[in-house]
Formats: sequence, C-alpha cells, structure tokens
Amino acid sequence: MLQNRLRLIASLVDRGSVVADIGTDHAHLPVYLVKENIIPRAVACDIRPKPLEKGRLYIQANHLEDKISTVLSDGLQELPPETADTFIMAGMGADVLIHILSECEYIRDPRYTLILQPMSRYYELIRYLYKSGFSIITQVCTHEGERLYTVIKARYSGSIRLFGEADIYLGKLELNHEDSRKFLIKEIQKAERRAIGDPALNSVIELLKGKLYESN
Ligand SMILES: C[S@@+](CC[C@H](N)C(=O)[O-])C[C@H]1O[C@@H](n2cnc3c(N)ncnc32)[C@H](O)[C@@H]1O
Repeated sequence: MLQNRLRLIASLVDRGSVVADIGTDHAHLPVYLVKENIIPRAVACDIRPKPLEKGRLYIQANHLEDKISTVLSDGLQELPPETADTFIMAGMGADVLIHILSECEYIRDPRYTLILQPMSRYYELIRYLYKSGFSIITQVCTHEGERLYTVIKARYSGSIRLFGEADIYLGKLELNHEDSRKFLIKEIQKAERRAIGDPALNSVIELLKGKLYESN
C-alpha cells in the first residue's frame, strides 16, 4: 500500500501509459503502477547510484525487472524522447524540477504528460510552467499527518498565458476540496511571514484570502 502522497500521484497516471519516474529513489511508485496493472512498463531513474540500486533491488524483489528498467540520469538527460509518454517527478524541490524541465528540449511537446510533486515553493514551479508554455490540467492536494502536498498534472500547449502573482499561488487548486483549502491556507501563512521582508506580497495575500472567502 502506498501512502497518501504517492497514491495521489498514482491516481493521476493515465491507464496504459508508459512512465519514467525521475528521482525514483525506492521505486515504490513504478512498482505499484505496474503491479496494479495501471501501466504496462516503466523506467525508474535517479541521479545517484545508491538510491537507484535501492530501487533496483525493490524492482527485483517484486520480479518486475522485465517491465521496469533503471537508468542513472540527471533528470531526463540520459533518456531518449521515446522512453516514456508520462514523466513523474516527485519528492524534490521546485528548483530541481525547474532545472530538470529546463534542461530537456523534447519535453516541450503536447504528447508528454508531466506529473509534478514539488516539496517546496510550488508557486515557482507554476510560474515556470506558465512562462514556458505548459498548461496545468489538474492540481490536487493531500496530507500525511500534518504535512500537506500538492500534485500538478501538466502538458505543453505552447500558449504563454498572462498571469498575475496570485495566479501562481492559485494554480488550479480546487478550493472546495478540504486538503486544497488547507494547503492554500498554509501557503498564505508562509507568504505572510515572507511579506515582512517583501511588502509587495501583501496585495497578493489579500487576493488569495478573497478567493478562499468566495469559495467558502
Ligand atoms: C526524496 S527522494 C523522492 C523519491 C520519490 N520520487 C518519492 O517521491 O517518494 C528524491 C530523489 O531524487 C533524486 N534526484 C535529485 N535530483 C535529481 C535529478 N536531477 N535527476 C534525477 N534524480 C534526482 C535523489 O537522488 C533522490 O533519490
């Protein structure tokens, strides 16, 4: 059984797709997706040999070596374009995700689906996506204990949308869902602390509070 965060990510994977799990570490996600027959095969990738070896052993323990291969790679650098149609990048900071996406030319193509779960500064990832011609298909949240997580499903569309600062905090959060509300409330609290050194954030915070109020 996967915990809430990985289970939510898995729920966004389209049935039958071929997945590359970037920063796979333990490889729990690709093993779950193949074992549950959600996807036929996957590639598990990591930048460091040790986590990749941990993943390989887990894949082996589940007798899935013929369906899940492992690749040592910084982001998608060692993965040719035909490797997968869905790229999962979870459990890393937004700066790492932005680095990985900006280093890969071929990912700017509507045939690829991205499932992104940033551990921090999700709004900077959304800023990058909007600036780079990606569209958010869906954005969902969950919690494990006190910790809240957001997961973004996105795809390249080529359209560069105009956005204000509040738009990157709102992304596609569905504020009628409890975990999404809680997630935004927590992010507003963090923004309030940052606003002490950056007063321009105050107008963004007021806009976000207004959205929360409207959706109540
Ligand atoms: C905290 S683990 C997350 C594991 C799993 N994806 C999850 O969400 O539970 C982050 C993993 O990402 C790997 N990583 C960090 N930067 C990376 C990069 N540029 N390319 C590939 N893997 C990377 C790390 O080595 C580590 O194993």
